[in-house]
Amino acid sequence: PMPAPFTVPLPIPQVARPVSPGLYEVTQRVTRVEILPGLRTEVWGYDGTFPGPTFELRRGEPATVRVRNELPVPTSTHLHGGVTPPDSDGYPTDLVIPAGGHSGHSAHMTHPGEVHHEGTKDYRYPVGQRAATLWYHDHRMDYTAPSVWQGLAGFALVRDEEEDALSLPAGERELPLLICDRSFAEDGSFRYPRTHEGHDSDYMEGVEGDVILVNGAPWPVHEVTATRYRLRLLNASNARRLRLRLAPGGRFTQIGSDSGLLAAPVRHDTLPMAPGERYDVVVDFSAYPVGSTVTLVNTLADGPAGKVMRFVVARRAKDDSAVPTTLSRPPERPVPVTTRSFDFRRTGQSWTINGRVYRPGDLLARPRLGTAEVWRLTSDFHHPVHLHLAHFLVLARNGRPPAATDAGWKDTVDVRPYEVVDVLARFEGYRGRYMLHCHNLEHEDMAMMADFEVV
Ligand code: C2O
Ligand code: CU
Repeated sequence: PMPAPFTVPLPIPQVARPVSPGLYEVTQRVTRVEILPGLRTEVWGYDGTFPGPTFELRRGEPATVRVRNELPVPTSTHLHGGVTPPDSDGYPTDLVIPAGGHSGHSAHMTHPGEVHHEGTKDYRYPVGQRAATLWYHDHRMDYTAPSVWQGLAGFALVRDEEEDALSLPAGERELPLLICDRSFAEDGSFRYPRTHEGHDSDYMEGVEGDVILVNGAPWPVHEVTATRYRLRLLNASNARRLRLRLAPGGRFTQIGSDSGLLAAPVRHDTLPMAPGERYDVVVDFSAYPVGSTVTLVNTLADGPAGKVMRFVVARRAKDDSAVPTTLSRPPERPVPVTTRSFDFRRTGQSWTINGRVYRPGDLLARPRLGTAEVWRLTSDFHHPVHLHLAHFLVLARNGRPPAATDAGWKDTVDVRPYEVVDVLARFEGYRGRYMLHCHNLEHEDMAMMADFEVV
């Protein structure tokens, strides 16, 4: 029984509370929650919730997240967009083994160099980076896609003084919106096609669902006042690309990209979003009559996946927020020291980078700490390319200037079929081993990853 679209209220994920200053504890566990009315869905959740709790972090205030794993499978938690030391970055074989004697792990293959933490691991986040919309999710070798599908994803918002000074919409007028698609079986369980160990060649292009969830609710509805709202948009789908638009019309004022606030706002009619990408936007609901509805739609799909959520403009209200014409001072464009090429392509039954099927430790580049490089990304298909640690500017698509929606520092870029995308990446923060990979999670699990080492 699918609910009628725009009838289920929009949930807002809980904000994580530290157990002592700078220390958070989160338990990954199995729960059963009502997503479709009247049915129970088994979720693998951080603190048993989907999405997981939102971590509110501040630049300059380090945080430790103690993750306890009570799931039947190992996990590895990655803070996507985080400038994180390598041992806390959620490397795919740096595993937290289930606590309390679950035997699940022994059935799975192990990889050379696998690290096991029994039951819990402390992830250390220095939070030296600018205010930005980050997210966290599972990153286990070969199983990221099914584990995220089962619920292992949530927001982490970094704030700083530069952002505080702006009077952007805040409180109830700031909405984190985790958008993803899922399929459900008759009994309400998540339906994921992988039924056996290894990869299913029927799903080479990735797994898409027919139900759009926002913050874990199907096509939800949310009442707003006729004021500005800040929407932190995240495409957390495994493989579905979105192109968001407001109906009956209206514009998104983009204030931030994956990695932080833009220098100045940019207006868009539509927002293309590949898996892993975020947009920080302001929508001014005072432009719509009181009593009207504003629907967020996905123009890349017809039918159910073409609908996302609805806002109901309930009443007028005072609005002290503003979107100033100067938002922030992002890092200047650095001068690159070299250019490297990474080709994302299907090779036989695998997805490969530079023709290689990923094995942990397979190093494709050794950039130097404190430098910047041009990375030329080429592809045969849609591949949302994500770099850990390094943030980048999109310099060019097919030798031409990038799209307006490519503005700002990012960590994920949608490389389209037969496209050549040049990005300028800065290697700041830490030395050590990091990854780049396709963020189509089925492609990621089918080995479209590589390591690089910052030296
Ligand atoms: Cu969001 Cu390596 O991933
Ligand atoms: Cu891909």
